[in-house]
Amino acid sequence: ARHFAIVPAAGSGSRMGVARPKQYLPLLGRPLIHHALSVLCASPDIDKVFVVLSVDDAEWSRHDWSVLGGKLVPLFCGGATRADSVLGGLRAISKEAAASDWVLVHDAARPCLAAWHIDKLVRELAHDEVGGLLAVPVADTLKRADDHRHVAATVPRDSLWQAQTPQMFRYVMLRRALEAASDVTDEASAIEAAGLRPRLVQGDATNLKVTYPLDLHLAEWILQNREG
Ligand code: CTP
Ligand code: MG
Repeated sequence: ARHFAIVPAAGSGSRMGVARPKQYLPLLGRPLIHHALSVLCASPDIDKVFVVLSVDDAEWSRHDWSVLGGKLVPLFCGGATRADSVLGGLRAISKEAAASDWVLVHDAARPCLAAWHIDKLVRELAHDEVGGLLAVPVADTLKRADDHRHVAATVPRDSLWQAQTPQMFRYVMLRRALEAASDVTDEASAIEAAGLRPRLVQGDATNLKVTYPLDLHLAEWILQNREG
């Protein structure tokens, strides 16, 4: 089976609080999205990289992506939600993808993706029936609040994991799951709603999602201090 990456990049980055979509904010001299695309395109495990952009994306064509090589394909079919954007991408590649091909969905907003993250995910899931996702064990003590913001419960964290991306599933299984699901914030939730159990593959905290301005500084520090 082949491995296709789908990178949803059609969001507006509202929580960053700046007008420009965060995937294009400068990070060490390149657009933020360039970092993850570059790692995906360089991966020997990945056959092609599809970037899902907003239909009215105004920035993609202003940059030169040719250094990333021939694996990279932009698709201007983003939707109203992340799930819609991923589904749009899956539909757009239906002629190319076989039912059993793997799809790795990776947030454009996770610029610190490392080669070992992809390698570990692909190796650990190669013979899995369902697929799975990178995740990290939750470190903080978690509280559930009542309506008055009093602690209603302390949620035991031993079995809790924070979901990351890439999330890797078979093309047809993922497409069916997303077509049936509504209101999911990741692919794994759609697969779970279909009654299946995605596998958790342990990544690490460096693969953070840039959501708030502080995250941009953390990402810059991580990339600058990475070995090799
Ligand atoms: N995304 C997308 N299409 C959407 C919404 C989000 O492709 N309609 C993408 C984003 O571009 C991002 C990833 O999904 O790469 C993760 O979403 P998130 O971090 O929530 O990004 P935004 O939705 O852009 O940010 P915000 O929620 O703060 O507006
Ligand atoms: Mg969002």
